[in-house]
Amino acid sequence: MENTKPKRILSMYQSTGTFTLGNYLGALRNHIGFQNEGYECLYALADLHAITVRQEPANLRKYTLEAYAFLLAMGIDLEKTIFFIQSHVPQHPQLAWILNCYTQFGELSRMTQFKDKAQKHADNINAGLFTYPCLMAADILLYQADFVPVGADQKQHVEIARDIAERFNGLYSPTFTVPEPIIPQHGARVMSLQDPTKKMSKSDGNNNGCISVLDDADTIMRKFKRAITDSEACVRYSEEKPGVKNLMEIYSCITGKTMEEIQREFEGKGYGDFKPAVAEAVIGELRPIQERFQEIMQDKEYLRRCYKENAEKASAIAHRTVAKVMKKVGFLPED
Ligand code: TYM
Repeated sequence: MENTKPKRILSMYQSTGTFTLGNYLGALRNHIGFQNEGYECLYALADLHAITVRQEPANLRKYTLEAYAFLLAMGIDLEKTIFFIQSHVPQHPQLAWILNCYTQFGELSRMTQFKDKAQKHADNINAGLFTYPCLMAADILLYQADFVPVGADQKQHVEIARDIAERFNGLYSPTFTVPEPIIPQHGARVMSLQDPTKKMSKSDGNNNGCISVLDDADTIMRKFKRAITDSEACVRYSEEKPGVKNLMEIYSCITGKTMEEIQREFEGKGYGDFKPAVAEAVIGELRPIQERFQEIMQDKEYLRRCYKENAEKASAIAHRTVAKVMKKVGFLPED
């Protein structure tokens, strides 16, 4: 029998607010599926990344706990998967510091997310925002992840993690697994409903452009009915129709229908039929998860036990990598 170790998958999610439909379709839903496909999966909430932008302490706590409960409600199976909170595992900032010293200023300056966020938060361009990719590289490399599933916006960060891993391996000897990104074919970039040239984002000032996974049915319906489309009034997939294209991709992700099938379904019908149909699909998809989420949130003791045990499991793996790295770099051992 072939003796192959299962491939390891790691991904993380910022807990700066309630997850968006973009997070859900572009990331969460696909990622959880990997636990049933023979991979060893690790997922975490990136709360250390969250503070690169100023957070209200009470909100950060609330959103982190809710995000933990939401992913459990989606079906993360803790028998198979390690699911933890980044700030509970001290090896993340520990390795991040070391990796800072193996990453160039020029490389970090080229990161598009840094440029975007620096523009958005011009009054708080802190060092953490700049070195964010080193922390993300640490997240990935600590666990020797083979694959990192992410939405298209995070691809550049996985690439820099690869570069850092290769550089360190080259300077010393093979230490880190060089990770590969996995980007979904559909849903990799869910766009704002109000400005379909921008990705749907929690930090989107325009709330009507962003569906939160905890929005109630009426809110979801209202936001979809107000979605920006065009004056052609025809459900057709085209780069020139970014609003309709985005709605079609959302609909396709949830129903599994191809673009041709969707075009046929709405032939001769206008956006007055199409938009509520997309909203209904989203509502139907989220409803059972929202119900489970409410139940899980009732049991804070259960939640606490889960994230504590999982941080211990993650830390045991992360510790092995940090010990190896420290030895190679030349730190004097404690004992
Ligand atoms: P974050 O928290 O912004 O997003 C979490 C995941 O959701 C994806 N995503 C989207 N996909 C499609 N359409 C959208 N509109 C959309 N918005 C977000 C993201 O691509 C991501 O996969 N830096 C990361 C978090 C992180 C991480 C890591 C990821 C920290 N450490 C290690 C992977 C590995 C971030 O801010 O994602």
